[in-house]
Amino acid sequence: MTENNKDTTFKFVNKMYRYMKNGSDIETFMQKFHMSYPELEGLLELCKMYGKNIDIAEKKGGMYFEKPMFRNITTLKPDLDYKNLIHTEFLAVSDTHLGSIKQQLHLLNELYEEAYKRDIHLAIHCGDMVDGNYPNRPENPRQQFLHGFDEQAGYVVDMYPKVAGIKTKYILGSHDETHYKNGQATINEWVSRCRRDMEYLGQDSASIEINGVKIFLDHPGGGSAQSISYKPQKRIESLESEYKPKLLLIGHYHKSYLFLYRNVVGIEVPALCDKTQFQKKQGLSNIVGGYFIDMYSDKKGNIQYIDAEEVIFPQKDMWDEAGKDKKKVKQLVIK
Ligand SMILES: [Fe+2]
Ligand SMILES: [Fe+2]
Repeated sequence: MTENNKDTTFKFVNKMYRYMKNGSDIETFMQKFHMSYPELEGLLELCKMYGKNIDIAEKKGGMYFEKPMFRNITTLKPDLDYKNLIHTEFLAVSDTHLGSIKQQLHLLNELYEEAYKRDIHLAIHCGDMVDGNYPNRPENPRQQFLHGFDEQAGYVVDMYPKVAGIKTKYILGSHDETHYKNGQATINEWVSRCRRDMEYLGQDSASIEINGVKIFLDHPGGGSAQSISYKPQKRIESLESEYKPKLLLIGHYHKSYLFLYRNVVGIEVPALCDKTQFQKKQGLSNIVGGYFIDMYSDKKGNIQYIDAEEVIFPQKDMWDEAGKDKKKVKQLVIK
């Protein structure tokens, strides 16, 4: 196989692996990609060659994809010197807006459960943990089922996924900050006091190092830009050199976008709440999902390889009718 072919096959395997969701049925997948069963078997073999283990299991009279509890990454990308690289995996989420009638906590739970299955130990939340409180917006109370600081902070403490081995590092965003503006109440004070698995990093932004890789978390605030890439690129330009990260994770825009700009890998992390009335009126899109980041870096903290696996939830996955999410969702606890 030539180098070029290897690369193309690797990209293909990565892409298909993302579509083969754990627990989804193979029929739908084969129809979508016009694939026969022998072709699917071939694809699974190819996945295994690239260290992505996936099987087919029979249950409830159907055939479903099954991704193993622990992903076995041995030959993820050809030609990389894995022995001398540091491997980092984490889940990136944002804009959960807990307390809003549009929250989708069950989808956040789904991502944490998947992170657990993949043996991931870190989750990063890019802000707007709660929906906040806007006294100047008369329509605000109707769009929330939890009002004010106590109810929203208490909900995070009681309901945010609690998964053995996973630490959540988070920043606060524009909606979280409204509680501070209203009465100097900071969500992080109570969440971090009550939840040892949740670590507060800063209001609006934070610069952290994970396995030597500089990562900047950003919740910019302000309105959406016409071009999806414009504001994040400006942000990279404006960062002082000591803060210039290798990876920039951006919340707030409720968009999903991956880009490389001036040697910085930038990811706009989507939201985990459904479209609000405000967004509908403004004609703004709202993307719901998260990212599984899988990267290899060298001893100097340079990213040698990154796979940002985008998980997007379609509208059918939202629990919208009659506030089902607030009523039916339970805290995800894995001990
Ligand atoms: Fe938000
Ligand atoms: Fe925000």
